Amino acid sequence: MSAAPTSAKAVALRVELDINGVAADVRADLATTLLTVLRDELHLTAAKRGCNQGVCGACTVEVDGVPMRSCLSLAHGCVERPVRTLEGLLETPRMQALQRAFAASGAFQCGFCTPGMLVAAHALLAADPNPDEAAVRRALSGNLCRCTGYARIVAAVRDAATALGAASGGTA
Ligand code: FES
Ligand code: FES
Repeated sequence: MSAAPTSAKAVALRVELDINGVAADVRADLATTLLTVLRDELHLTAAKRGCNQGVCGACTVEVDGVPMRSCLSLAHGCVERPVRTLEGLLETPRMQALQRAFAASGAFQCGFCTPGMLVAAHALLAADPNPDEAAVRRALSGNLCRCTGYARIVAAVRDAATALGAASGGTA
């Protein structure tokens, strides 16, 4: 009698990911999202589970330097692609400037959208150090905020760009 075939369910799948510069060996089946790995396995809770269906942007993280909705990204699809969450970006000069500007401008109220906004803005300023208002609004158009009306968020991102430009002698 031949041995029963190994069922896919019987295999405990794991995957190794680069999360904030650290190799993380995590449990994830083929349908496990990056957001689930981040929040439920690694307890990195800055990325928020808002809609969990790709609409609100609260779960935004950087993958390969590009903002991505982690609720729509499969963990196995992120192999050999650096993942950076807000926790891993906090100390960059860009994120420090953004945090200062958000605080100074009152660019958040409940704060639920703020981590995703900051990650999206961080990627924007990496690509465009001096975005105009339209560029900021475009970059953040996938990040919903129920509280602020967006004007202060947009102003804060532009203030951060100005501060970074001044800090680098206007060459940023
Ligand atoms: S939780 Fe991912 S887009 Fe809303
Ligand atoms: S500050 Fe509340 S959702 Fe944006």
